[in-house]
Amino acid sequence: MSVILLLLALSSTVIALDNGLALTPPMGWLSWERFRCNTDCEGDPENCISENLFRTMADLVVSEGYAAVGYEYINVDDCWLEKNRGPRGELVADRKRFPSGMRALADYVHAKGLKFGIYEDYGNYTCAGYPGILGSSRQDAEQFASWEVDYVKLDGCYSLPTDMDVGYPEFGRHLNRTGRPMVYSCSWPVYQIYAGISPNFTSIIEHCNLWRNFDDIQDSWASLESIIDYYGNNQDYIIPNAGPGHFNDADMLGNFGLSYEQSKTQMALWAILAQPLLMSVDLRTIRPEYKAILQNKKIIAVDQDPLGIQGRRIYKHKGIEIWSRPITPIYQTYYSYAVAFVNRRTDGTPSDVAVTLRELGLQSPTGYRVEDLYEDVDYGVLSPNTKIKVKVNPSGVVILRADVQPERFSKRPLNPFYYRYTKK
Ligand code: GLA
Repeated sequence: MSVILLLLALSSTVIALDNGLALTPPMGWLSWERFRCNTDCEGDPENCISENLFRTMADLVVSEGYAAVGYEYINVDDCWLEKNRGPRGELVADRKRFPSGMRALADYVHAKGLKFGIYEDYGNYTCAGYPGILGSSRQDAEQFASWEVDYVKLDGCYSLPTDMDVGYPEFGRHLNRTGRPMVYSCSWPVYQIYAGISPNFTSIIEHCNLWRNFDDIQDSWASLESIIDYYGNNQDYIIPNAGPGHFNDADMLGNFGLSYEQSKTQMALWAILAQPLLMSVDLRTIRPEYKAILQNKKIIAVDQDPLGIQGRRIYKHKGIEIWSRPITPIYQTYYSYAVAFVNRRTDGTPSDVAVTLRELGLQSPTGYRVEDLYEDVDYGVLSPNTKIKVKVNPSGVVILRADVQPERFSKRPLNPFYYRYTKK
């Protein structure tokens, strides 16, 4: 019996999607939120889903400094396909909009030092009605590998959620068998949750690098708030599933319909929640202050923290929320933390929040070096008893990083009331 169990354990290890990818949440650019299913290349050549759009965005990811801060994937979403498969049952990219074909687009993206992602759907059709992979999953996985795809988002429209427990792992195995490492992004749990099925996260973690749990993001504060609430209200259920190689996916970063403050809030919370940073913005026209948010290296470092722990909401009262994420460095049993103060109130004045580090769960007697990640404010080294006070704009955020100090710096006694505030 134990031999059989051992063999089963070994075989499941071998067949699992063990691709060594997404050890931190993927970063890149994805077309859907901003460019949708615009196929009108005659009427709107600059914005239609076409090879030109992806080439242009790949160019800008490099030339505008996004690649330098970690954005890596150029991901095609829905509406890239011809409505029918080719004569050998193969997927064909739209001949007018992608005249050079997908391999050529992947080559272009790779030549820029970036990686290339593609979209498909587990069912009969994609959500926008193009051919899905059902019945051709092996051939399609091989085709993606031959195009040198690095990332596959597999949606779940036009399929049975009850089939997904078999179908998603099966496609993952086909991807694996090609020998080409491809990030595997699944929509498996969200479709099951909508169908009233409780997803098998043990299997999802084993087979997918990331997965959607909740609604599509729309470019509005209301949509963003609903996602923030979902992640907060369901955190005990969601957080344990995240870790290096397997992350929850709260969807794209967009900012066309968000205010400056709201965009800052999204970026900060996505970092706290260990989310993929997939920009869906027009990099040709993005305003400099929004670009600065997306390129904030300190916040990206929180998002990309190697522990891969997803943060949680630790306080919610009268429209004020505090979110916190354990990060490196660790000293003895004490983590460092990123802490975000979010103001969900709609009265137009900023709200003051005052709290001691200890109340935030930061207890190391050696103290923490605290800095603001948006503003150039360094609080110095603070003891757990120090009270910090932040002013949070309506629908805005203050995000701090508190690095636990190693013992050797704590030889001098820490004054609990010591509070250094230096604005450079
Ligand atoms: C679904 C997905 C979106 C997007 C669209 C494309 O709604 O959740 O992210 O891919 O399909 O049709």
